[in-house]
Amino acid sequence: MKRLSIVKQPALSVINDHLIDYPTPSNLNYMWSFGSLAGLSLMLQIATGIFLAMHYTPHVDLAFLSVEHIMRDVEGGWLLRYMHANGASMFFIVVYLHIFRNLYYGSYSSPRELVWCVGVVILLLMILTAFIGYVLPWGFMFGPKWLYRFILYSLFL
Ligand code: HEM
Repeated sequence: MKRLSIVKQPALSVINDHLIDYPTPSNLNYMWSFGSLAGLSLMLQIATGIFLAMHYTPHVDLAFLSVEHIMRDVEGGWLLRYMHANGASMFFIVVYLHIFRNLYYGSYSSPRELVWCVGVVILLLMILTAFIGYVLPWGFMFGPKWLYRFILYSLFL
């Protein structure tokens, strides 16, 4: 008798085929999750970023005030901002774990050299984006402190 399985139903079988019975090399372990986690982090950053942008004002005199407005007046604005700011740090932690996994298992070598090179470009774009995002509140931190942070972020993030 044919076994009736719920995961064989048309809609669910798509999920089953791609998440449960998906064929993968047997050497993969949980360290391979960091790529997907990085993707999830990117989605979160984009979603929270879009909502923050709805209340942010890109003007020299108003940017800082609009961030204060987000923190004090916008419903759940503080949560959005903290999710976005801490999410950025989590994103980098996850991506560095992803990179170290690649290095440890030699995933940068043939036939995946190009994947690694694209990854390096992605990392540089991430650093640039994080730096720009960090200065968006346009707080009053120019001078030595600003220079210090500029160097710190440019070199180490
Ligand atoms: C937004 C940032 C990134 C996302 C969303 C991302 C996503 C992914 C995903 C989903 C995979 C497949 C699953 C896995 O192996 O974890 C993967 C594989 C890979 N990634 Fe990334 N990645 C990112 C950044 C990077 C960076 C910065 C590098 C290197 C500098 C890199 C190099 C690689 C390599 C070489 C593989 C192939 C691993 C293998 O097949 O063994 N990725 N990435």
